[in-house]
Amino acid sequence: VKATNSVLENKFINIDKSDIAVVVHAVEARQLAGTADVVMAYEHELQTYFGVKHALAVSSGTAALHLLLYLFDIKQGDEVIVPPTAPIMSALPILAVGAVPVFVDVEPDSMAYDLQDLRHKITARTRAIVTVPMWGYPTLLGGLREIARKHQLPVIEDASHCHGSRSKEGLTGTMGDIGFFSTQERKLVATGEGGFILTNSNDYADRVREIRDFGKPVRKTLELQDYLGRYGYLFGLNFRLAAMSAALGISQVHKLPAKIEQRTANAACLREELSNMAWLREIHVDDATTPNYYSMLMRVDHPTMSASGVAQALYEQAIVSDTYRFGIQPLYKLPIFSAYETDCPNATSLLSRIITLPTHEGLSMADLKRIISALQNLAP
Ligand SMILES: Cc1ncc(COP(=O)(O)O)c(C=O)c1O
Repeated sequence: VKATNSVLENKFINIDKSDIAVVVHAVEARQLAGTADVVMAYEHELQTYFGVKHALAVSSGTAALHLLLYLFDIKQGDEVIVPPTAPIMSALPILAVGAVPVFVDVEPDSMAYDLQDLRHKITARTRAIVTVPMWGYPTLLGGLREIARKHQLPVIEDASHCHGSRSKEGLTGTMGDIGFFSTQERKLVATGEGGFILTNSNDYADRVREIRDFGKPVRKTLELQDYLGRYGYLFGLNFRLAAMSAALGISQVHKLPAKIEQRTANAACLREELSNMAWLREIHVDDATTPNYYSMLMRVDHPTMSASGVAQALYEQAIVSDTYRFGIQPLYKLPIFSAYETDCPNATSLLSRIITLPTHEGLSMADLKRIISALQNLAP
């Protein structure tokens, strides 16, 4: 597979014959909607890979979170905790249901919550905690889960960057009460647009199925048994994933281990070649965690250049850091979230010091060398 991108950014559309064959097969089956057999086959692949009881395909990562806020009955005035280091998609659904995003600071060197700030910001109106590990680097949930249990709050993992990232606790996205992923084209499982939800709870899975399909009841409870399969008794929307995207998901899940292996090798090459640059270090990786190398997250401590200056210089050499591309800043600094501004000094400092480097499996050795020499040219 050759790189289809002309610039070195964190985007590589990994499509080969196996992807094409499975999509053609799905189209030939003449079942195109989210109710097609191939969607169940895709969900089965996900269940097997992640070792969970239920995987539920949905139309996007954003849709997944929107759906989960309905699952937990989160409404007007309720509060949902989210890190300011997340992208807008992790917080917009909170606004969609009329709830309030409460930004809790992260640790100085990771996207894990600062537990002291978390305890401080939980109120009687808090309804859920969303974790958002970024760029494939897992965060440990141990202490967070304890706090959440004490306050009876569900932990929702936004594992959109973390297909196959793991820690001593297990696979990211299976460690909270419920987890979700995006499968948008930049992700390690790419279906164009799409997402999925993972859970071991039969009850949550049934409710997700109902909300995903216009509220059509599937639970065989006393109150619902006469209405099974009939619309109009429960609230829901259409969050289903189209059959062709699900088909693509099947071949993409099969390729996931090989993608992670290649990305990890690319990251190791960059780490080795950049080891003599004291101003540029990979962010702290806890020994108990294994990133999937969605991309490589670097901390910049350059005597004369800021991280954004370094990212700009790389951009001029056609190497595009995500921090440059998205202009990353604490979410509450964006106009749409400014009403929820709160002081998160660790997040502010961390976001001003990081850049990402591409590690995807489409990079050739020559591409990696280009990245290395572009960085060497910035040596103080
Ligand atoms: C961390 C994170 N959460 C959520 C989303 C939303 O996913 P989608 O683009 O599939 O709606 C994204 C996607 O870009 C993301 O990076």
